[in-house]
Amino acid sequence: MRTQVGIIGAGPAGLFLAHLLHRAGIEAVILENRGREEIEGTIRAGVLEQWTVDLMNQMGLGQRMMREGHFHSGVTFQFGGERHHLDFEGLTGGKRVTVYAQHEVIKDLVAARLADGGTIVFSVRDVQFRGLDGTAPSIAYRVGDRDERLDCDFIAGCDGFHGPSRKAIPAAHRAEYDKTYPFGWLGILAEAPPSWHELIYSRHERGFALLSTRSPEIQRLYVQCDPEDDIANWSDDRIWSEMGMRFGFPGWRLIEGPIFQKSILGMRSFVCDPMQFGRLFIAGDAAHIVPPTGAKGLNLAVADVVVLSRALEAWYRLGRADLLDRYSATCLRRVWKAERFSWYMTTMLHLDPGETPFERRIHIADLDYVVHSRAAMTALAENYVGLPIEE
Ligand code: APR
Ligand code: PHB
Repeated sequence: MRTQVGIIGAGPAGLFLAHLLHRAGIEAVILENRGREEIEGTIRAGVLEQWTVDLMNQMGLGQRMMREGHFHSGVTFQFGGERHHLDFEGLTGGKRVTVYAQHEVIKDLVAARLADGGTIVFSVRDVQFRGLDGTAPSIAYRVGDRDERLDCDFIAGCDGFHGPSRKAIPAAHRAEYDKTYPFGWLGILAEAPPSWHELIYSRHERGFALLSTRSPEIQRLYVQCDPEDDIANWSDDRIWSEMGMRFGFPGWRLIEGPIFQKSILGMRSFVCDPMQFGRLFIAGDAAHIVPPTGAKGLNLAVADVVVLSRALEAWYRLGRADLLDRYSATCLRRVWKAERFSWYMTTMLHLDPGETPFERRIHIADLDYVVHSRAAMTALAENYVGLPIEE
C-alpha cells in the first residue's frame, strides 16, 4: 500500500490528523493495533478545551458533542470547608469547559473517517519503521497472517506512550524529561445523576477528589489514592465514604449510585525532545504525558497534529520545509506550558505524603490566592480553557 502520510495509532492524535489532512487534500492511512470496539470502549478523560470544541464543529464532527456534551461556565474549587466558583467564561471572554468523553470523540471521528472513504487498518501487529532518515520511509506490519508494508512520504507516530514511535528516535538524538508523582487516582463511573452543576476540584486533608460527569444518568468521580494500591482494597462502600468526606459540604449531599467501573491510574509528567527524527513526527501521548488534573491530555494531542497538518500542508502545497523543520520547537513551547500548568494544578490540589507542613501551607495559600485574586484566577482560567496554538 502507498499513501502520503502513514499514521500509527487511532487515538485522538491519529484520528484528528487524518481528518485535518483529508481536508487539506492530503492522503493518509491509519494503522491501529487494537480493534474498533476496544478503542471505542476504553474509558479515558473527558474535558475539551474551547478551541478543540470549535475545531470539531468546523470539521463538521461536532453534532453529537453539541447534543450530548456538558458545557460549564467554569469549575468549583473546594478547600478549607469552602467552595469557590471560578468563572472561566467571564474571565476569558466566553470560553467554556466542555465535558465529552474521549471515547465518544473517538467514535465520532472513526465513523466520519470511514464515511469519508478513509482507511483505518485495525488489529495490526509488529509495526516497524524503515528508512526514517531518507525521503521514502515505510512501515512494515502484520495483519492477520499477512506481512504488509505501507510506503509513504512521512510517518506520524500517534501511538500513545507505550507505542514504538518514540523509541524509533535513536536515544542519542532525544532527551526525556520525567516526573512520577507519589499518588494516583481511583476513578469510578456510577449510575447517579449529577450532584453539582459543574466539576469540583477538592483539596482535603484526606487527599484530593474530583467530581465530573458523563451524562444525566452517569457520573465520573476520582479520589487520590496510593498508585500501588490494589483496587480490591476499595469496596463500593469505602469509595462512597471517602468521597463523602472529601466533597463534604454543609447543606449538600453527594448523590450515590451503583458503581459499574473502577480502576486506579498512576500520574506522571513526561516530555520527549525533539518530537521528530528524519521523516518521523511524533504527536500526543507518544511525545508527552501530563497528570490529568489540568485536563490537558487529549487537547495537547490535538494541538500537536494541528501544527503537524499545517506544516504538511505547507510542504505539499508550497514546497516549504520550514514549518516541518520547526514542528518540534513549535509544539514543545506550548507543551511545556501545559506541563507547567498540569504540574501546578496537581501539586496545589493533592496531598503529597513526602511534603513538609510548610509546603502544605504554601499550597493552601496558593489556592486562597487563586480564588481571591482576579489576576491569578484569570491566569488559571486562560490555561484551563486552552492557550493559543502558534504557527
Ligand atoms: N501499532 C499501532 N497502534 C498502536 C501501537 C502500535 N504498536 N501502540 C499503540 N497504538 C495505538 C493505541 O492502541 C491507541 O489507540 O495508538 C493509539 C494511541 O492513542 P492514545 O493513547 O489515546 O494517544 P493520543 O492519540 O496521543 O491521545 C492522547 O489519550 O491517554 C489519553 O490522556 C491521554 O487524553 C490523552 C490522549
Ligand atoms: C474527567 O471527566 O474524566 C476529568 C475531568 C477533569 C479532569 C480530569 C478528568 O481534570
